[in-house]
Amino acid sequence: MSSTRRDFLKNSVVAGGALALGASRPSHLGAGNVTQLAPEGGFAGAGAASRSLKILILGGTNFLGPHQVRYALQRGHEVSIFTRGQTQPTVNVEYFQRVEHLIGDREDDLVALGGREWDVVFDNSTRKWEWTRDSAQLLKDSVDRYLFISSTGVYYPYLTTDIDETVQPLTVDESGGQNGSAAYGVMKTLGEMEAQKAFGDRAIIARPQHFTGPGESQDRHPYWVDRMERGGEILAMGRREDPVMLMDVRDLAEFCVHLVETEAGGIFNIAGPASSLTQEEFLHGLRFCTGADVQWSWVDDYDFLKEHNLYFAVPWILLDGPELGYTSINIDKALKHGLKMRPLAQTHLDTRDWWYSEAVPDERRNNPQFPLSPEREAEILAAWKAR
Ligand SMILES: NC(=O)c1ccc[n+]([C@@H]2O[C@H](COP(=O)([O-])OP(=O)(O)OC[C@H]3O[C@@H](n4cnc5c(N)ncnc54)[C@H](OP(=O)(O)O)[C@@H]3O)[C@@H](O)[C@H]2O)c1
Repeated sequence: MSSTRRDFLKNSVVAGGALALGASRPSHLGAGNVTQLAPEGGFAGAGAASRSLKILILGGTNFLGPHQVRYALQRGHEVSIFTRGQTQPTVNVEYFQRVEHLIGDREDDLVALGGREWDVVFDNSTRKWEWTRDSAQLLKDSVDRYLFISSTGVYYPYLTTDIDETVQPLTVDESGGQNGSAAYGVMKTLGEMEAQKAFGDRAIIARPQHFTGPGESQDRHPYWVDRMERGGEILAMGRREDPVMLMDVRDLAEFCVHLVETEAGGIFNIAGPASSLTQEEFLHGLRFCTGADVQWSWVDDYDFLKEHNLYFAVPWILLDGPELGYTSINIDKALKHGLKMRPLAQTHLDTRDWWYSEAVPDERRNNPQFPLSPEREAEILAAWKAR
């Protein structure tokens, strides 16, 4: 879609919203005016924060980081990032001119962090719990608050539904590293414990579920972007009523800043959307975001999907065994603390604009890591019809 048409649509949404909302603005849109619906308009109350914070991001240049950078600067905070200098941001690039870039390696070189003071740390770049142990111990007397980006992966195996923050996280990987989900969950749990050991109630544990948006580092939501734009007969996998969860990376980034501005502490599940969403609703929502000619073919038999090795196409995931409660994350605490969500249609359209922009190299776009290739989708649909 051309940017002119896009702008027209956005302005129409804003203008239409203004007319429809009148004086009683829905609370989920926040306290400001309707222009908050625009992607860069930000979290409720965008504008300068009442106090400028010095924020250090351990990481900052891949996916979540560039959105934290943009919003923190918009709120009037100062930002330093710490990376190896290998990964370059592909979105919000212009904001990095106003960021201090410290170089080191969380594996064995934290020299650049020594003798410095910050109000807040965002620990994004966690691949090992030992990284959090080392940085949290180093910074505990020179930083007020430490926000650790964990994951709802700590709840693996997801044996119950309605998983809130009181559910015990996984501390032991009985598979000895063979089960990637268990290994990831334990790594995040141990990282959380290290942040809490060093910072006590000054630690914030953010447990996000899937997030997507411009700059997405995996090809998960881009699958749906690409699939919708190709149109035609689409394999709609799963039961229509399967719950799905997905949030906008910008909502997560902005909530991180909100948490530190409000001097929060403790654990927060962070997922979206704000109210329950089924697979059928998700797919029909996507349809409204495309002009392509689309027909759905529902393949709702879990046994058949397993036979064909189709276990996920995020946000849908086959809800069975250890994945049973995967999309039943309770976010009441975060919502109470002010988590706000953009409309998912906006997330989809902005992800689409980014996916088809120069920010995504042709090589990636032409060789995506999608859960289904067009050929496999056609084969599964043929088998479904022939069964
Ligand atoms: N995507 C999801 O749906 C999802 C869901 C739940 C949780 N999470 C979590 O969200 C977090 C966000 O990840 P992100 O990649 O988007 O964050 P990010 O802050 O945008 O990027 C990660 C950063 O880590 C740096 N880095 C990597 N290895 C490093 C090292 N050894 N020393 C210093 N810096 C290093 C990278 O720069 P260099 O390469 O230049 O060093 C990069 O800047 C992760 O912890 C992930 O587990 C993701």
